[in-house]
Amino acid sequence: MLEHLRQTDSEIYDAVLKEVGRQHEKLEMIASENFVSEAVLEAMGTPLTNKYAEGYPGKRYYGGCEFVDIAESLAIERAKKLFGADHANVQPHSGSGANMASYFALLKPGAKIMGLDLAQGGHLTHGSPVNFSGNLFEFHSYGVNRETETINLDEFKKKVEDVRPELVVFGASAYPRTLQFEKMDEIARGVGAKTMSDIAHIAGMVAVGLHPSPVPCCDVVTTTTHKTLRGPRGGLILCKEEYAKDVNKQIFPGNQGGPLMHVIAAKAVAFHEALQPSFREYQQRILDNAKALENAFKQRDIRMIAGGTDTHLLLLDVGHNGVTGKDAEIALDHACITCNKNMIPFDPQKPFVTSGIRLGSPALSSRGMGPGEMKIVADCIADVLESKLDSAVIEKTRKQVLELVEQFPLYPDWRKLRA
Ligand SMILES: Cc1ncc(COP(=O)(O)O)c(C=O)c1O
Repeated sequence: MLEHLRQTDSEIYDAVLKEVGRQHEKLEMIASENFVSEAVLEAMGTPLTNKYAEGYPGKRYYGGCEFVDIAESLAIERAKKLFGADHANVQPHSGSGANMASYFALLKPGAKIMGLDLAQGGHLTHGSPVNFSGNLFEFHSYGVNRETETINLDEFKKKVEDVRPELVVFGASAYPRTLQFEKMDEIARGVGAKTMSDIAHIAGMVAVGLHPSPVPCCDVVTTTTHKTLRGPRGGLILCKEEYAKDVNKQIFPGNQGGPLMHVIAAKAVAFHEALQPSFREYQQRILDNAKALENAFKQRDIRMIAGGTDTHLLLLDVGHNGVTGKDAEIALDHACITCNKNMIPFDPQKPFVTSGIRLGSPALSSRGMGPGEMKIVADCIADVLESKLDSAVIEKTRKQVLELVEQFPLYPDWRKLRA
C-alpha cells in the first residue's frame, strides 16, 4: 500500500501519513467533514482518473468511454433512487460548482435571488458579495429571528413579498434546526419564484427520511457528496425533468470540462452504501450523537444558538463564556478537538474573529462513537471553554482525548504505514 508513492515522492508520502495520523488523533468535529469508507477511498484511487469523458453516458466527445459510462450511469441511477429525483447530474466537481450551474440553469445573470444571510448561517454561494453569486446576480437575504435564532416563516414571507425574487434558495451551512422546505416553497411560489434547495449539510438525513426532503417541492436541489452523505469530495444536482437538459448543459459545457471519473465512481460507491439499511442506522446515530452533545452542553450551561439542534450540527455562542470563536478554535485544536470558528446570528465580532464555534457529529459517528462518548467530548469542550482556555485544562483535556481516540481506530491499514 502506497509503496509507489513512498518511492517516488517521499515528501508527499510523509504529508499523507501525517494527515492520516492527525485524522486518527484528533476528534474531528467540523460539521462539514466526514470519513469515507475504504471502498470509497479505493474507488478514488483508480485509473479512472486517466479518462477524459466530456459529455454524458452514451454521448461523449471522446472515444473509449464504454466503461466510465457504466460508472457514471450507476451513479446517476443510484442518486435518483436515493433521493426519489427525476434527474441527477453527478459531474459537479464541488458544491459551489453545483450551485453555480443551477443558478445559470434557472436564471439569466443579473436576476434577483434570495438566500439565507451568510452571517446567519447561509453559504458563500448564496449571495456573498465576495463570491460569483453576489457578483453575477442581484442577491437579497433573509435571516433568522433575533429571539428564537430560527427562520420565522411570517418574517420570511414578508421579506419574500417585499423583494419578489425570481428564485429563492433554501439551505444553510450553519443552521442547527429543521428546514421547513414545503412551507418555504409555498411562500416563494406565492410571488411566482422558482425554488432551489442546497442540502449540502443535511443530505444524508434527507436521503433516509430523517429530515424533510425538498426534492418533491423544489425545482432544483443541490448538495455536496462529502458531508453527511459520506462520499468523496464533490457535488450533485437533482432536479425535475423539465430542468434536466438545462442543468446538464450548464455543467458541461457551461461551467466544467471533463468530469472526474474516479470521483464519479466513488460517488456511485457512496450512493450504493447510502442505499443500504445500515446507512439509516448511521444517520440516526449522527442525530442521537448531536442530541447527546446538546444535552451535555445544556447541563454545563453552554449557550447554543437556537437552543440546540435537530440535525448533525450545533452552533455554540462562546462569547457567553467570555472567549472568541477564533481563540476557542485554536485552544480546542491544542486539546485535539478540531472545529471551526463561526459567526453566530447578530454577531458583534468580525468574521475572522467571531463569537461562535460550529460543531458536528458526522465524523465521530463514522468512527463508531455513540452518545456515551459524546457526553465525554461535550464535557471536554465545556471544561476548556469554562476555564477561559486555560493551558493546564487544555493539556489535561488533550490527554483525555488521546485516550478516547485510541478506542476508535481510524483507517488502521493506513496507520500501519507509519512504522
Ligand atoms: C450549504 C453549502 N453549500 C455549498 C457548499 C460548497 O461546497 P464545496 O466546498 O464543495 O464547494 C458548502 C460547503 O461547505 C455548504 O455548506
